[in-house]
Amino acid sequence: MKILAIESSCDETAAAIIEDGRKIISNVVASSAAMHEKTGGIIPEMAARQQVVSIIPVINETIKNLSLSRDIDALAVTVGPGLIGSLLVGVETAKALALLTGKKIVPVNHVLAHLYANFLEEDKNYIKPQFPALGLVVSGGHTELFIMEKINNLKWIGGTIDDAAGEAFDKCARILGLSFPGGPAIAAEAAKYAKSEIRNPKSEIKLPRPIIGDDSFNFSFSGLKTAVLREVNKLKETEQFNQITIVQLAYELQEAITDCLVAKTVRAAEKYKVKSILLGGGVAANKRLTEKFKSEFRIHVPPPSLCTDNATYIAAFAYYNYHPVDWKKVSAQPSLEVEV
Ligand code: KG4
Ligand code: ZN
Repeated sequence: MKILAIESSCDETAAAIIEDGRKIISNVVASSAAMHEKTGGIIPEMAARQQVVSIIPVINETIKNLSLSRDIDALAVTVGPGLIGSLLVGVETAKALALLTGKKIVPVNHVLAHLYANFLEEDKNYIKPQFPALGLVVSGGHTELFIMEKINNLKWIGGTIDDAAGEAFDKCARILGLSFPGGPAIAAEAAKYAKSEIRNPKSEIKLPRPIIGDDSFNFSFSGLKTAVLREVNKLKETEQFNQITIVQLAYELQEAITDCLVAKTVRAAEKYKVKSILLGGGVAANKRLTEKFKSEFRIHVPPPSLCTDNATYIAAFAYYNYHPVDWKKVSAQPSLEVEV
């Protein structure tokens, strides 16, 4: 079964065709991230306008020489959560295609779908996740933990009580004067930390690990932003805010965020006696995060290009949670919940 999926929840316009939830037939992503780099963050109106510009060329390139009416069995589209203007572009386009072809649409929750990038059989070395599994979605807007009893059974067990992990990376990068999106920029600065002149224990900056030791499976990252701002202001007062202290702060921030993510996830994995841990979302592309997990547990991480937003996992989710509906029943839901 071939599903054509559309994803437009934020600043990526994406479409993909996936066969039987596993095989990538085509995958096209257009991103307006470069445009948002200039403003240091996403301006929803600008993102939505770019979605309008990109959606038809992206779908056209995805379908290539296939026939939408003959070769595609069903459509899937992200209905939420996300930015309303951006979501509407993908949702209304999917409805138009359904009206045109008579095909059904599978409405998809973007956050849950991130985990299904782990079921795409990218290459020969692919290893199938074992159930029960634990899923950690770490993106720009979400940090959520799920128990996956089987491939189509997800139960939410915890999540962030304030900012998402990716949001903490993005906001702190901005405070440090680094580029957007902040995750890769912080990771690149943190990688310079190994140099000895930077790694000076006397000037080491320490950041908190909020709620790392409590009994919940929740996360809290907004305090880190305040802590980074406080450190930066202190450094500026003593004229010590420079390339070296930026690297130290970036390193410590990455350590703090990844420590919190790993501690809670591993504790949940032990409690629920899971057989594997699945990561998904843009922050799952962080090498330090996966390095820390690997020393603790057997994990599955999609390749970086499938961690960040694209439509492959939207189609995979739709295949494994196949509940197609008539186009009239599909609408954008910007505040769609993740507790299912
Ligand atoms: O899943 P995604 O592409 O979009 C959302 O659904 O939000 O995630 C984007 C987030 C951004 O906050 C970005 O800074 C973060 O993922 N990110 C990273 C890395 N690559 C992207 N964070 C840490 N390290 C990375 N290498
Ligand atoms: Zn996402």
